[in-house]
Amino acid sequence: MNRIKVVVSGKLPGKYTGDLLVFIVSGDGKKEPACSHDIENVVQDLFQLGDFAGKEDQHCLLYPKNISAFTAIASKRVLLVGLGKLGKDHASNENRELLRSAGGTIAGVAREVKAKELLLVLPHYLKTKDKGAEQLIEGVLLGGYRFEKYKSKKEEDKKYSGLKQITVQSKISGTAIRNSVDRAKRSAESAIAARNMANEPGNKWTPQHFADFARDLADKSSLGVRILDKSEIKKLGMGGITAVNQGSSTPPKVIIVEHTPKKYSRTILLVGKGITFDSGGVSLKPAAGMQDMKYDMCGGAAVLSTMAAVAQEKPDVRIIAVVPSTDNMSGSSAIKPGDIIKHYNGVTSEVVNTDAEGRLILADALAYGIATYKPDCVIDLATLTGAVIVGLGHHRTGLLSNNDMLANRLLEAGEASGEPLWRLPLGKEYSKQIESEVADIKNVGGKAGGTITAAAYLQKFVGETPWAHLDIAGTAWEYTKKKYIPAGPSGVGVRMLLEFIRNFKSLKL
Ligand code: BES
Ligand code: MN
Ligand code: ZN
Repeated sequence: MNRIKVVVSGKLPGKYTGDLLVFIVSGDGKKEPACSHDIENVVQDLFQLGDFAGKEDQHCLLYPKNISAFTAIASKRVLLVGLGKLGKDHASNENRELLRSAGGTIAGVAREVKAKELLLVLPHYLKTKDKGAEQLIEGVLLGGYRFEKYKSKKEEDKKYSGLKQITVQSKISGTAIRNSVDRAKRSAESAIAARNMANEPGNKWTPQHFADFARDLADKSSLGVRILDKSEIKKLGMGGITAVNQGSSTPPKVIIVEHTPKKYSRTILLVGKGITFDSGGVSLKPAAGMQDMKYDMCGGAAVLSTMAAVAQEKPDVRIIAVVPSTDNMSGSSAIKPGDIIKHYNGVTSEVVNTDAEGRLILADALAYGIATYKPDCVIDLATLTGAVIVGLGHHRTGLLSNNDMLANRLLEAGEASGEPLWRLPLGKEYSKQIESEVADIKNVGGKAGGTITAAAYLQKFVGETPWAHLDIAGTAWEYTKKKYIPAGPSGVGVRMLLEFIRNFKSLKL
C-alpha cells in the first residue's frame, strides 16, 4: 500500500521551499473570505476580481516567484483551497464534511501538479478546536487514492508515484493535533485497504485472499484469527455457505478475526458479506454490468479493514469480525431454484432464486457468530439488494435494526463520518412474505420491499440479540460524487464503524 506520511511541524510557511504550500480559505462568496495573514492581500485581489471567494470546492493555484505580495514565500506553488461557509459550531457534521471535501480538493491538485509532498497550513480555528483538522487530513488521504496496480505505466508517469508526505503546519503542535492526525490516518488507511480489496477482480481476490489478509493482519498485531475451511464449514452445518459454493471450483472460507482486550465486559460482532463474484448462479444475472459483481465482497472488505484500525486503537471492548466468503457460480453441481437447504441453526430454506445468495451465507455467519461469541450487539454489512438503490439511490446506506438504541447510534456515526444511513422498517408483514410452502422460509419475498424482506430473512438468525443490518449495495461503489471519493469502490462502512466503535462505551443496549 502506498502509505502517506503525515508529520506535524511548527515551520513557518515562508520558510517552506517544497512542492506545494496549501492555505485554507473560508467564504460564502459574498463577504470577503477569511484566511491566514500570509495570503490576505492576494485573496483580497482575487475576491475583488470575482475569481475566488473561498467557496466550497473552489481552488486557485499560484506561482509565488513572480507575485510581489509573495516575496516572503519560497514555495514552488501556493494552493488556496475554498472551504465554503463554516457554521458556528466548528465540530458540526456539516463542517466536517466541508473539511473532508477541501482535503479531497488538495489531493486532486497535488496529483495534477505531481507534488510529492506538501505543507498544509491549518487555519487557526482548527488548531485550537482540534476537531476538524482530522477531517481535513482524512480528506487529503482519501482523495489521493487511485488503483493503478494493473495499468502499465507510461514513460512520463514512471517518476511520479503519488503524494508521499503531508506536513501539517501548526504552531501549537500539541497532542491534540497529533491525535487528530493519528485518527485520520487510521480511518483513511483502513478505508483505503477496503478499496484495495474491492478493486481486485474476482480472479485475483478469492476467499483464500481474504484468509491471507486476516492471517497477515493477525501476524502483525495482537488480533486473533481463525479460518474455517470447506470441510469445517460443512461439518458445522453451515448449509447456506455450502449451498452457494456448490457451483464453484474455488473453496469457501469463513474468516474470523478477533480483538480481545485483557479486560472487557462487552462484545461487538461484525459480519460482512464476502461474495468475491456474484454471477447469480443458475438464476444468472444479465450480462450488462455483471463485472461490477466483483464488488460483492465490499461488506467483508469493510469489516476486515475496520479490524486493521481496531488493532491499532485497541478499544476496551471485544470485537469479533466474521466474513463468510465464496463466489456464486453456476457449475454443474450448483444449487438450483427449488432446492431446500438447512442453515447452521437448523432453519430450513427453500432457495427460490440462487441470486439471493448473500442472505444464505450471512444467515450461517450470523447464527454461528452469535452462538459462539454471545455478543452484546451485531452489525452486518452487505451489498445485499438492488432494491436499496431503487429506494435510497447511491447516497445513503440502508439500515434495518431490531433495536432503536443501536440504530440511532449508527445513524449518528453515519452522519459524523460522512457515510450517512437511512433506516427502513422491519415487521411481521414483511417476514410473512418469506414464508415457504415447503420449508421454514424461502430466500425471496417477491418484488415488493426487496431490501426489507432480505433483512427479514437475516432477522431469523439473530434471535433477540440487538442487531443492525447495513445494505451497502448503493454506496459501496458509484457512491455520491465527492472530492475525497474517487470512482470505483468507496470503502464505505469503515469510517462509520470506527466512529461507532470509538463511541461505543456510552451506548446502553
Ligand atoms: N449482490 C446482489 C445485490 C446487488 C445488486 C448489489 C446490484 C449491488 C448492485 C445480490 O446478491 C442480489 O443479486 N440480489 C438480488 C436479490 C433478488 C434475487 C431477490 C437483487 O437485488 O436483484
Ligand atoms: Mn446475487
Ligand atoms: Zn450478491
